[in-house]
Amino acid sequence: MARYLITSALPYINGIKHLGNLVGSLLPADVAARTLRMEGEEVLFICATDEHGTPAELAAREAGQEVAEFARREHVRQREVYEAFALSFDWFGRTSSAANHEMTERFYQKLDENGFIEERTIRQFFSVDDDRFLPDRYVTGTCPHCGYERARGDQCENCTRVLDPVDLIGPRSTISGSERLELRETRHLFLNLGPLAERLRQFILAHEDWPRLSTSVALKWLDEGLRPRAITRDLSWGVPVPREGFRDKVFYVWFDAPIGYIGATKEWADAEPSRRDWRRWWLQQDDVRYIQFMAKDNLPFHTIFFPGMEMGSGEPWTLASYIKGFSWLTYDGGKFSTSQSRGVFMDQALDILPADYWRYGLLAQAPETDDADFTWERFAATVNKDLVGMFGNYCHRVLTLTVANFGAEVPVGGVPGALEARLTDDVKSSLDAYRAHLRAFEYRRAVQELRRLWSLGNLYLEERAPWRLVKQDRETAAAVLRQTLNLMRVYALAAWPLMPAAARTVLNGLGCQDDLREPRYTGAERFHALIGGESLMPFPPLFRRLDADEVAALSARYAGTGPS
Ligand code: MF3
Ligand code: ZN
Repeated sequence: MARYLITSALPYINGIKHLGNLVGSLLPADVAARTLRMEGEEVLFICATDEHGTPAELAAREAGQEVAEFARREHVRQREVYEAFALSFDWFGRTSSAANHEMTERFYQKLDENGFIEERTIRQFFSVDDDRFLPDRYVTGTCPHCGYERARGDQCENCTRVLDPVDLIGPRSTISGSERLELRETRHLFLNLGPLAERLRQFILAHEDWPRLSTSVALKWLDEGLRPRAITRDLSWGVPVPREGFRDKVFYVWFDAPIGYIGATKEWADAEPSRRDWRRWWLQQDDVRYIQFMAKDNLPFHTIFFPGMEMGSGEPWTLASYIKGFSWLTYDGGKFSTSQSRGVFMDQALDILPADYWRYGLLAQAPETDDADFTWERFAATVNKDLVGMFGNYCHRVLTLTVANFGAEVPVGGVPGALEARLTDDVKSSLDAYRAHLRAFEYRRAVQELRRLWSLGNLYLEERAPWRLVKQDRETAAAVLRQTLNLMRVYALAAWPLMPAAARTVLNGLGCQDDLREPRYTGAERFHALIGGESLMPFPPLFRRLDADEVAALSARYAGTGPS
């Protein structure tokens, strides 16, 4: 049997993430972890804060804090928000951990032994006004490919092309804005993955099941040719380079960040060394299926750069089995922007509505093949129609009818008929389709099928009209309501990966035997887990509506302070 290693792209330490970051990696990774656990698979779900490099330094500078202290605080803040969103990491680590320093040195040594590391003298921008060399990200300018004016020296966030700072048109210092930049000579270490190009191509081509987006970005990168890339930087915060002449430099953040998946797994193991072994997931493990989630700008690093490092080390590291890349979630037609407070950030989201609403509302619109746009109108429509109108309403009607006519327990007696048999069949096949979509990491399809599953119950209620039936044929009405309560349990199980809080409320209310911390599908197939006589704990409506006034107020409040 396979074991599943699941990772979400490691969020940068520089502040609370927005809804786009949530839906583009963290949330789908969590849904995958929950899905596979409830299918009875062994799962290890790992994440961490990505703490090094210029994003951290710039943010710490802005906050007026020492970068180490800044990182420590922000790590805790992010961890708390992720807990509140019910992200079920087995470990949430830090790329600045001792474990990751150790792992990064190990990769460097092996890559060096195997001839993939070169010393080169390069000409790099030196900012006269800042009196320092500028790492790629400290240079801003216009992208030569798409004309985006605020492209960074390492990558254009608009067209996702990987850049060199000298490619930029009109380069200036990100620190001071100064344009007095001079190209000066300095020595750096380069990683040359060129000799691995063919092996990497085979690696990509061997995975025909990856989303097109992932494969096409990978092949585009290979087609452009694997130029040696600098893996050291003139910074002080990061993993120091263990080599003569480089003691004042650190590794490039994109060198130690993906190694952070391994480093964080080691942190997890170190916390309980007698029971946990990081090697069991990462070294020479043919039965590990490794699933990665990320936004599309991360794809080159995960499809080429990191696997290349793994291969080049000569050690038998676990390679990704499946790479799920996402397009962008935009906010009301533009970008989410921290500096302009445009869009909704994860901490703010929870002040508006509980996590389940966001988890469902965002996945329903996951930017899987194309970009998707978040608008309050659409989000409210999804909440009102799906969550309130279908799932919530179904549960509420069934519970109210049952309690009013049979008291707070699952009705006993009565014989299910042909309609019930048909409903059971329909539900089984819909549930199977839903589970298959989730196992294939196809979230929009999964949500569509979940809606179908909900509509089956609502249609059955209309058809059987137990509120009338109970007056004519109480026995059959008992069987019908028992059927609807069993279906409600199926709904709770199906909801678990997406909406764990609602799922728990329902399971708890039904007095089921299911494990409320980690429910399993076992028994759901039987569909008739509730046999009658179980006591019910009625619960208030699961979801509330978002009305037009509220939508208007929220749109205005999160519109931001300037143009995107
Ligand atoms: N911090 C990066 C980003 O948000 C992602 C790093 S993923 C890892 O774009 F592989 F490097 F860890
Ligand atoms: Zn561009």
